Formats: sequence, C-alpha cells, structure tokens
Amino acid sequence: MNLRKPIFTAWLIFLIVVNGLSSVEAANVDNKEPTPNSILAKQYPDTVFFSGPQNEKQIALTFDDGPDPRVTSDLLDVLKEEEVPATFFLLGARAKAYPDLVLRTHNEGHLIGNHGYWHNPIIQLSDQQATFEIEQTQQVIEQIIGVKTTLHRPPFGLLNEQKVEAIKELDYSIILWSVDTEDWKASPPDQIVETVLETVKPGSIILHHDGSNWDTDLTGTVTAVKKEIKELKKQGYTFVTVNDLLGLSE
Ligand code: NI
Repeated sequence: MNLRKPIFTAWLIFLIVVNGLSSVEAANVDNKEPTPNSILAKQYPDTVFFSGPQNEKQIALTFDDGPDPRVTSDLLDVLKEEEVPATFFLLGARAKAYPDLVLRTHNEGHLIGNHGYWHNPIIQLSDQQATFEIEQTQQVIEQIIGVKTTLHRPPFGLLNEQKVEAIKELDYSIILWSVDTEDWKASPPDQIVETVLETVKPGSIILHHDGSNWDTDLTGTVTAVKKEIKELKKQGYTFVTVNDLLGLSE
C-alpha cells in the first residue's frame, strides 16, 4: 500500500484548516494604527467633518468632556446672555452623574453630541467596545433629553478606516474640528481668545472643553468664550450648531 498519497492529503487538509483559522483570526484583529484625519475626511466626505462651508460667516462652538458642575453652568449662563447656540460632546459617565446639566443644556437650545462613555481612545478599543462606548452614552443621554445623539467626536481625535466604518454603521456623523484652543491645558483666557481669533475662518468648528479631571481648572474657558463671542460678533460672525453648520439633520 502506498502511504504517500493519504499522508500528503492529510497534510494538505491540515494546511488548509490552519490557514483558514489564521485568516479568520486576522479578520477579527483590531487595527489600532490611526489614519490621518485629513485622509479619512477625503475617504468619507459624508461622514467625517472638520469644518463647514466657507461661503458664509457661520461658525460652530463646540465643548467636549462635560458636563462638569465646575464649568458647564457658568458657560451656559454666558451662552444664554449672548444668545449663542453651541454643540456639547458629552461623556456618558458624566452625563449620568449630572443629568440636570444635560437637561439644561438641551432645554437652552444647544445640540448634544456623543463623546463616548469613559473617554477611552476609540482607536485602542475593539469594534465591539467602541460600539458599547457610543451606545451606552446614547442611552444615558436619550433617557435624560428624549433625543438620540447622531454626532460622535472621538476622544483624542484618533481614528482609522475600521473605526469610521464601525461608527458609520451606528448612523453617526464624525465631527472633528478646525480650530483647537488647547484650553484643556488650563491656558490663560487671553491665550485661548488669541488662538481663536488668529485661526478662525468662515465654517470653522472650534474646539473647547467644559469638563476635565479634578486637577484641571477650566474656568479660564468661560472667561475666554465670553470675550471670543463678543469679538467674533464684531467681525460679523454668526454662531450655529454643528448640524446647522453642516446641513445635517438631527
Ligand atoms: Ni475629550
């Protein structure tokens, strides 16, 4: 009896099975390498946004990482006084802790977006974990204001194609920014204002923060925002929510 043929066949089957298993494994591996956002915005022009149209002097103020009782209510006072709508990208855990601030933000005409639950970098998570972060946050916010969130801002702004696809799958638009105030460094208000005035353009999406860890004082942001709004109004800018800037529906 010639054993070479069955041994060869068995070996071939073994190779096919092992190869099959490793390619299944490869498909499940999460790609954690970020893709530059400028490339993603070109690849996904209907999903990933840095800024709005430049033909009108409209801009959107955005605030991340709240709500935070040390900052958010003073900020809402300023926005109310100036009659300026803004967009707030909330963390699920903080929204759950401070529902009254979430409700006030919504009731005063601001748009609420989704910044994930724990501020984990989405890029470091599995697709399943990323979906959990966004959906848990959505649930918390919806329970408070009765409206589903449709905008996501990724913590740290890091993404790649795989994560964009996963977020798109949840029917979200991804909102980045074109003006970074770096106010999370607790910068002096004048420095924040200067950054905005130097870089603002029609269509700008301006990034601020109204929430942080216990060791960061963000009260400078409130002072800065008041000055910024007054100066930008003088320059003829009007303020709109991100949805209105980009022509997205809620
Ligand atoms: Ni953040």
